[in-house]
Amino acid sequence: MELIRYDSTNAFLPKTGITRLDFEALAPQLVAAREETLQTDLQLMTQGAEVPTEKQPLDAGFIELPERLLREYEERRDASELGRILQTAEQLRDAVDRVVVLGIGGSYMGARALMDACCPPYFNELSRGDRGSRPRMYFEGNNVDNDATQGLLSLLGDGHEAQDVDARWAIVGISKSGGTLETAVAMRQFLAALLRSCGGDQQRLAQLVVPVTGTSGRLFELAQAIGCPAIHRVPDGVGGRFSVLSAVGLLPAAILGLDLIQLLQAAAAMNDHFRTAAPGENAVLDYVGVCHLMETRRNASIRVLSVWSKALEACGLWYDQLLAESLGKCERGATPLTTVNTRDLHSRAQQHQEGSRDKLITNVIVDQCRCDPLSVGQSNLDQDRLNDLADKTMPDLLSAAIAGTNQAYRDAGRPTSDIHLPQLNEAALGQLLQMLMLATAVEGRLIGINPYGQPGVEAYKKNMNRILGRG
Ligand code: PA5
Repeated sequence: MELIRYDSTNAFLPKTGITRLDFEALAPQLVAAREETLQTDLQLMTQGAEVPTEKQPLDAGFIELPERLLREYEERRDASELGRILQTAEQLRDAVDRVVVLGIGGSYMGARALMDACCPPYFNELSRGDRGSRPRMYFEGNNVDNDATQGLLSLLGDGHEAQDVDARWAIVGISKSGGTLETAVAMRQFLAALLRSCGGDQQRLAQLVVPVTGTSGRLFELAQAIGCPAIHRVPDGVGGRFSVLSAVGLLPAAILGLDLIQLLQAAAAMNDHFRTAAPGENAVLDYVGVCHLMETRRNASIRVLSVWSKALEACGLWYDQLLAESLGKCERGATPLTTVNTRDLHSRAQQHQEGSRDKLITNVIVDQCRCDPLSVGQSNLDQDRLNDLADKTMPDLLSAAIAGTNQAYRDAGRPTSDIHLPQLNEAALGQLLQMLMLATAVEGRLIGINPYGQPGVEAYKKNMNRILGRG
């Protein structure tokens, strides 16, 4: 498997960037943070020892999850977690043309990132044939947006009885706690519509509702009351925003026909690389080192993830949540920001080029596009003066934009670094997601912030419930 590559050359800039000396001096601390993440934390979890208060909650279970799922699948096939996910996905693919995924935060953003990165563009607009009979996928329960909910319900037939597969739809309801208000409200509304679309048949309804949740809680109880034949688990010790490679992200990905084995093998390959490569050659440690030095030495508290493909925007938003909820604690933590280029060269780039020097830009570059390169083309209508570029392709233009932008930033003393993905597929995404989750955990240990848990999110929930009269 071709590994994704992290290139930090353009972060080493005199006066405004980082220095080789500082980077080398940080290496022992990075290695210690890796040991803590891989040894101390995992041992605490597996040995069931008492977890020190400052490490609670400890949700490092995501690290070895890819290897565990692959191993269990190898040993137990259909009876394994992965086997069950694949079976549920196949049943839904045969039964329906649309799947609504209900979930919020870590219970939604990873699946969205995988869909946008690995499915063909405009996937939901393709015919069932062109989609290879894979269902369209929609995401709700991630807001309390009246019009968006109404719009989707109406698209799904306003609860009219579905007569054929093209009109049939299903719900995948994802909530680790099972009690998140946004998702629970959407579940109630979409369940009512789905029951109507099943002609009131409770048994048909049960086949079309797939919960992903813990082994107890409100969603679990609801699923039992409905009689759902398959309930998938969010594993213990895996936090919401670190759960993309559990059933939370894998079930939607399997429904979309993505290659789960490749995705997990890629994440396992990133684990191997992270465990064994030395600082200076380790994508995870080097990324953390550059980000940390820029923040502590150059006050670069804004981390721009600059993705050079529209298909990666949702991945950037997934990372925004991962970084913000994990390290934004104790009045510390860098601020994440996703930009999509070249689109945002026409909106944010002015500020990145000449604004406050408080940013580190990390480019995510896809080396080879999915479809054949499209050229600009010759035209008799040359009023647009493009005939000189007639033979250039879209990838040529994009490469020029990336090189030109990086050079402009370098000339202005604006540090950047690059993550290179060979292609947009499961092999690249599995590595990238695992790399960024590992990096977040390592950085937390490096700066003494527990990367797991999100105590600050409770305040709005408490107030909202009080305002709604729930005491
Ligand atoms: O990272 C997290 O744990 C959170 O973002 C959760 O995923 C989010 O709050 C949704 O929670 P739940 O899955 O319990 O509905």
